[in-house]
Amino acid sequence: MPTVLVTGANRGLGLEFVRQYAERGWRVIATARHPHGAPELTALATTHPNVSIETLDVGAGESIRDLARKLTEQAIDVLLNNAGWLGNRDKQSFATLDYETFEEVLRINTFGPLAMAQAFMPHVLASEQKKIVVITSGLSSLTNTSRFGNLYFYRASKAAVNMAMRTLQAEVREQGVKIGILAPGMVSTRLLHSSGYQGPGVIEAPQSVTAVIGHIERLDQNAEMTLYTGEKIPW
Ligand SMILES: NC(=O)c1ccc[n+]([C@@H]2O[C@H](COP(=O)([O-])OP(=O)(O)OC[C@H]3O[C@@H](n4cnc5c(N)ncnc54)[C@H](OP(=O)(O)O)[C@@H]3O)[C@@H](O)[C@H]2O)c1
Repeated sequence: MPTVLVTGANRGLGLEFVRQYAERGWRVIATARHPHGAPELTALATTHPNVSIETLDVGAGESIRDLARKLTEQAIDVLLNNAGWLGNRDKQSFATLDYETFEEVLRINTFGPLAMAQAFMPHVLASEQKKIVVITSGLSSLTNTSRFGNLYFYRASKAAVNMAMRTLQAEVREQGVKIGILAPGMVSTRLLHSSGYQGPGVIEAPQSVTAVIGHIERLDQNAEMTLYTGEKIPW
C-alpha cells in the first residue's frame, strides 16, 4: 500500500487525515510536535497497526532533517503538509502588528512546508505517486481579500507558501512530482475557532478531508489552488 506522511496529525484536520488514510489501508506516518500529549492519535495507532507516530516540529529545521534521516529508505507517496498556525489574532491587525508573531507564523506555515519538501524529496522521488501537498487557505487569495478581516500574517504566510509550491512544481515537473495546493474550506477546528469566525459555511473535518483526499488522488501537475469543493480559487 502507498505511504502518506501527515504533519500536525494530533488534532483537527491532521488527525482526520490520519484516520481516513488509515481506514483506506495506507501506511500512515503521523507526525506531531508532542506525540505524548496526543491521546486521540495514540488511540488511532493502537487500533490501526498501519499508523506509526513520529515527533516533528515543522518550525524547526533540525527536527525536519532528523526525521528525514530516520526515515531514509522509506518511500513517501504523499507528503502532506497540514500543520499550520493562525497566529494570535490580536497581534496581526494593522494597529497591533507584532513582527515576532509574524516570523513564527512564517516559520510554521511557509518555511515549514518548503523545508519539508527539501528534506523529503528523496523519499517522494522513491515512491510511486510522488505527491507533495500543502494545505493552504482561501484567505491567501490576493483577489478575494474582502472576505474576512485582518489576519495579515496568516494570509501572507499562506500566499507565500502557495508561491513556493508553484515554483517547486515548475522545478520538479520533469521528475514526475505533482504538487497540490488545496484549501479545506472553513472547518470546525481549533484554528478556525481562534480566528473568531462565527458566520455560516463551516463544515466538519470528515467532510473536508474526504473531499481533499479525492483531490489528492486526482492531482495533476498544474498546481492550482483548489478548494475542497473542487472550485479553483483565484490567486
Ligand atoms: N480550519 C479551517 O477552517 C482551515 C481553513 C483553511 C486552512 N486551514 C489549514 O488547515 C491546516 C490544519 O489546521 P486545522 O484547522 O486542523 O487547525 P488545528 O486544529 O489548530 O491544527 C493545527 C495543527 O498544526 C500543528 N502545528 C502547529 N504548529 C506546528 C509545528 N511547529 N510543528 C508541527 N505541528 C504544528 C498543531 O499541533 P500542536 O497541537 O502541537 O499545536 C495541530 O496539529 C492548517 O494548515 C490550516 O492553516 C484550516
